[in-house]
Amino acid sequence: MIHGDFLDTPGLPAILARADVVLVNNYAFNSSLNQSLLQLFLDLKEGCKIISLKTFVSLDHKINVRNAGSVESILRVKKYPYYTNAVSWTHNGGEYFIATVDRSAMQAFWANGGAMLDDGTSRRSSTRRR
Ligand SMILES: C[S@@+](CC[C@H](N)C(=O)[O-])C[C@H]1O[C@@H](n2cnc3c(N)ncnc32)[C@H](O)[C@@H]1O
Repeated sequence: MIHGDFLDTPGLPAILARADVVLVNNYAFNSSLNQSLLQLFLDLKEGCKIISLKTFVSLDHKINVRNAGSVESILRVKKYPYYTNAVSWTHNGGEYFIATVDRSAMQAFWANGGAMLDDGTSRRSSTRRR
């Protein structure tokens, strides 16, 4: 077991790269801390699941030119409910998220001309038209 700052633990990226599941109890984390954590997920292996109380990627995230290289673009996230009296820290119900590392959509994006414009055309086809 490692006891330390997860943003400043040199061996942590190598450990994360072997993980099948990452559990992040991040309900009270601010957006800056969640963003910093997100950057640690870039080298997670395909299929790894991140379970969290706040999502790291919006549920309607769409890959585009600006975000295609971001960590969000390798995550496929789903929201799940937990019910009254289901958890130890509150009697209330709530929601949690499972993000699965899935690079297929990002790879398809790049394979499909790489630099797609927001209107769905590629830079290559728009260049050819000029
Ligand atoms: C909601 S508690 C979860 C405690 C426990 N891990 C659990 O799941 O029951 C969140 C924990 O994250 C810790 N934390 C916040 N920032 C951290 C950091 N940079 N490195 C390590 N732990 C951190 C806090 O101290 C707090 O104990």
